[in-house]
Amino acid sequence: MSRPLRLGIVGLGGATMSMLPSLLADPRVRIAGVADVDPTGRDRFAADLGVPAHDRAEDLAADPGVDAVYLATPHALHAGQAIAALRLGTHVLVEKPLALTVEDCLAVHEASRASGAQVVVGHTHAYDRPVRAIREIIASGRLGRVAMINSWYYGSFLYRPRRPEELDTARGGGILFNQVPHQVDLVRLLGGGLVRSVRSATFVLDPQRPTEGGHSTFLQFDDGAAASLVYSGYDRFDTDEWHGWIDENGRDRTPEHGAARRALRAAGGPDAELGLKAARGYRGLPQPPADRSGLHQPHFGVLLVSCEGGDLRAGPDGVVVYDDRGARTIPIPCDGPFPDKSPVLDDLYRAVVLGEPPVHDAAWGAATVEVCRAVATSARERREVLLEHQVPVDPAQRAALTA
Ligand SMILES: NC(=O)c1ccc[n+]([C@@H]2O[C@H](COP(=O)([O-])OP(=O)(O)OC[C@H]3O[C@@H](n4cnc5c(N)ncnc54)[C@H](O)[C@@H]3O)[C@@H](O)[C@H]2O)c1
Repeated sequence: MSRPLRLGIVGLGGATMSMLPSLLADPRVRIAGVADVDPTGRDRFAADLGVPAHDRAEDLAADPGVDAVYLATPHALHAGQAIAALRLGTHVLVEKPLALTVEDCLAVHEASRASGAQVVVGHTHAYDRPVRAIREIIASGRLGRVAMINSWYYGSFLYRPRRPEELDTARGGGILFNQVPHQVDLVRLLGGGLVRSVRSATFVLDPQRPTEGGHSTFLQFDDGAAASLVYSGYDRFDTDEWHGWIDENGRDRTPEHGAARRALRAAGGPDAELGLKAARGYRGLPQPPADRSGLHQPHFGVLLVSCEGGDLRAGPDGVVVYDDRGARTIPIPCDGPFPDKSPVLDDLYRAVVLGEPPVHDAAWGAATVEVCRAVATSARERREVLLEHQVPVDPAQRAALTA
């Protein structure tokens, strides 16, 4: 394919708004259509870009002018929309989580296998350049085997404006399917992918927002390495404070604790909250930042990996290596779009155009969802949960296992 990959966008909410700068900056990708049930932003988006607009994801996926669709709809719709597109031979980039159950994830994997169309699950913070660089250092073997991985995130997740189902665990609400997949994806990428067991405690600390907002989880990998995952979305402590007050996307921010809680309280009531949520959708094409001086690498809180020969930390401007020589930063330039989601587009392009199997395919997405579900089961039943659907990072090793 010498022409750009023609991508249809499904869902013009917050996820697409984050992806848009990378999509618009990438000469390998051309936005070729849009689908959203809400015409407000959709029709404006279609007019701004001169592309067709649809109500239904299936109609966009069936457009012969579309090679792949980006599914950025609520979690519960991902599997059905992905399978419908794959059956039409249309490739899929789907937001995390791939689906709400392992069974639905595996059905997406089967539809991909049957049609030959590719699935890439992302963006997650496993795509952040510092995480990728840590992965490369681990793969080089120069620091020896991985022992402990720590992923800690404290922020305001639960107090950003939400739709009712986002606060209802039974419908995929809370952190378990929205935020924990970031942590699971990145520790699986760094730990080799094969999680053996999960022990977790989850927490609902605000009866007004009655869904999981915190967890403390211990994962053990097949090779004995371990990961500690801690998350709090209660807008008290904020791990940005330990990251030089740089936000998750990588921009300098004002120190503030509890601001999201106060803003939500000031908005007053569920209807106002829905309005604030809708306001995060499409309101015009994004402009690149005029001043890049306050831009750094994206991050997901504290990420610290201990290997036999040293520790590795995802820092604001690169990977910090702590070894026998002391501490030093391997810099990673911040010269891409902002926020920078282009690594997931690299994967999509390589998968669809160059035929290179992506790490984050549907089997990988299923394995991540399996861990997220195990977090819930372990917490509820107060026991260790063993896993069955894990896949290794290395696609060659994965192919050998399934051969
Ligand atoms: N990777 C990230 O960093 C990131 C960030 C935010 C959200 N997400 C993920 O993206 C997904 C969407 O989250 P969001 O916050 O953007 O949600 P949102 O509610 O802001 O937007 C969802 C959009 O989908 C549209 N929609 C709903 N039903 C539809 C249907 N049947 N067909 C077509 N369009 C439909 C809605 O009108 C809305 O515009 C979630 O699964 C979430 O986990 C990922």
